Amino acid sequence: MTSPVLRPHAEQEYAGELAALAAADDRAKPPSWRLSPWAVVTYLLGGTLDDGTEISPKYVGPRRLIEVAVATLATDRALLLLGVPGTAKTWVSEHLAAAISGDSTLLVQGTAGTAEEQIRYGWNYARLIAEGPSDQALVESPILRAMRDGKVARLEELTRIPAEVQDSLITILSEKTLPIPELGTEVQARPGFTMVATANNRDKGVNELSSALRRRFNTVVLPLPDTAEAEVDIVRRRVGQLGAALSLPAEAADLAEIRRVVTVFRELRAGRTEDGRTAVKTPSGTLSTAEAISVLTGGLALAAHFGDGVLRAQDVAAGIHGAVVKDPVADSAIWTEYLETVVREREGWADFYRAGQEIAG
Ligand SMILES: Nc1ncnc2c1ncn2[C@@H]1O[C@H](COP(=O)(O)OP(=O)(O)O)[C@@H](O)[C@H]1O
Ligand SMILES: [Mg+2]
Repeated sequence: MTSPVLRPHAEQEYAGELAALAAADDRAKPPSWRLSPWAVVTYLLGGTLDDGTEISPKYVGPRRLIEVAVATLATDRALLLLGVPGTAKTWVSEHLAAAISGDSTLLVQGTAGTAEEQIRYGWNYARLIAEGPSDQALVESPILRAMRDGKVARLEELTRIPAEVQDSLITILSEKTLPIPELGTEVQARPGFTMVATANNRDKGVNELSSALRRRFNTVVLPLPDTAEAEVDIVRRRVGQLGAALSLPAEAADLAEIRRVVTVFRELRAGRTEDGRTAVKTPSGTLSTAEAISVLTGGLALAAHFGDGVLRAQDVAAGIHGAVVKDPVADSAIWTEYLETVVREREGWADFYRAGQEIAG
């Protein structure tokens, strides 16, 4: 047996669910799709199949958004998932690719340093020099491979990529071809090829999407969870899964502690307490659902290795402090004020107040 990996791809981890969906799926599939659009949406949002198989929800949020996203990919337009950090853009993109193509690995990570070769193709220079341009010397980008195989290509953080490099996507997305002038050939995309890009709509100093490129994408904005209950539900599920993967006692994360972390994050994000009575200042960082998940996972590790195995206030306080205080001066003051005016007064939160104070120093 091969040794396990730290993080299996979605299509590996959920192979059982994907197979059950494929077996139950008798609806029409777009060319090259593994599943019908209906089955892809069920894979993402969860459900129970006729034979009783449970499909776990991957994304928790408005059904319509996922339907629009999947319907877009069934047309000749690409999909842009937009949202603040931690709204599951990357997560949804991975699961869409896994469900549609059975392969979520055709991925380009966009950065300020992303070059055209990473979007189109590059060369194995040793072979290029030895043999001249040839198919063997060509290094295909994940996007080129997706075109060739009729699969979903993923492009992360599209707006971090310099504008002139972004523009190399225009021919790919509108003409569905990638010319390789050095070989006098082109790669024409097979049916099933499409792209899921993600972008952060709060990035400062990023490159705008050119209007020519914007027209090639349908945009779906992923929102922050609109109620505390929805957010607690998301965090509880993911902490359970991540805790299990790290062999942490995930059952130790009781709902009360999860709710408390989510409450703190939501209040600081919204700039007022949940009862609407007290205004609080908002710190500089984004306090996303994803960060709440890592605060709790980190807390579980503290509790398991250095505590009594039960997640307590002191196990999450350090993580919350780290998530909130990104700017050592301004955010520290905001956090201290929140501790003194909100946490201190709140019934049942004395343990959390003490733990918070200890860390704030
Ligand atoms: N609405 C949601 N439903 C399910 N998981 C969510 C949701 N919002 C956030 N998450 C979780 O947050 C984590 C980080 O999300 P990620 O995709 O990296 O965010 P983004 O790419 O938008 O910054 C993932 O583990 C994901 O499961
Ligand atoms: Mg992301």
